[in-house]
Amino acid sequence: MENNVRPENMARITTAELANAFIDEQIKLMREQVGDKKVLLALSGGVDSSVVAALLIKAVGKQLTCVHVNHGLLRKGEPEQVVEVFRNQMNANLVYVDAVDRFLDKLAGVSDPETKRKIIGAEFIRVFEEEARKLEGIEFLAQGTIYPDILESDGVKAHHNVGGLPEDLQFELVEPVKLLYKDEVRVVGKALGLPDSMVYRQPFPGPGLGVRCTGAITRDRLEAVRESDAILREEFAAAGLQGQVWQYFTSVPDFRATGIRDGKRAYDWPVIIRAVNSVDATSATVPELDWALLKKITDRILAEVPGVCRVLYELSPKPISTIEWE
Ligand code: XMP
Repeated sequence: MENNVRPENMARITTAELANAFIDEQIKLMREQVGDKKVLLALSGGVDSSVVAALLIKAVGKQLTCVHVNHGLLRKGEPEQVVEVFRNQMNANLVYVDAVDRFLDKLAGVSDPETKRKIIGAEFIRVFEEEARKLEGIEFLAQGTIYPDILESDGVKAHHNVGGLPEDLQFELVEPVKLLYKDEVRVVGKALGLPDSMVYRQPFPGPGLGVRCTGAITRDRLEAVRESDAILREEFAAAGLQGQVWQYFTSVPDFRATGIRDGKRAYDWPVIIRAVNSVDATSATVPELDWALLKKITDRILAEVPGVCRVLYELSPKPISTIEWE
């Protein structure tokens, strides 16, 4: 366990120069650890797994195989970005698994939040296991464990939870960023040349949009979450709020409200905008957003997202509310 403790004198990585020194050192260490063997990585496209992928591509190139599971609950454009950055730009071995139907079929009719989370986690491991079995000669499993994961839990990330692989499929772990804090991982990611939209991503839950499409997920309501979230992110970026507001997203609850569309009565969903500032997600405050910005986002969501007839801005802090809706 000793190598899971950050040395007291370890300098915080705050500059490109420090990041480059860290990168060089990790490349050397990973080459020593892995030799000419093969490494597997579950690449979600989040900052931690993306930085681990970029480090390993530099260190061992095609000895790394990245598996990206699209479970249908990712944000708009994310699976495409993973393919573009890692396969097309970085020339990585990337297995892209379209598991959308599989996840959504399993989740159909399931409304309990914890059951939904369990199904998503278990199905993720199953898909990853199937892909791992197709590959031959893998000896190492890379993970984007970071220092807060070690401090707060048993060192295994909920959303990278491939620790649940069966006994006959156990690999030696490669965890190059396990002593880093999130802000340091971002500095390293920037130095590795990853796009800002990946490096400065807001926290995103493992079950993804699944917890923002409350109750039993339906495909049309899930699309309403994804499209409204994309509009929100686009407008926040245009207003210079990306990286300024800690987390922002939309949720679509599983009830309808009345509206009028094309002179006819409509019975459609509300979209709830949630934006919070926080340090560590244990508490959160709601920023005072510009009214004109909120109006613009509202107008766009109502005009562009099918099945939506209302937009609400949530004012509840944490506690007593949680950040996510379920
Ligand atoms: P809550 O809703 O509990 O969220 O105030 C706190 C932070 O955690 C994220 N979150 C999750 N992350 N798996 C994750 O990996 C989950 O099941 C999950 N639920 C909430 C949430 O986005 C917020 O940043």
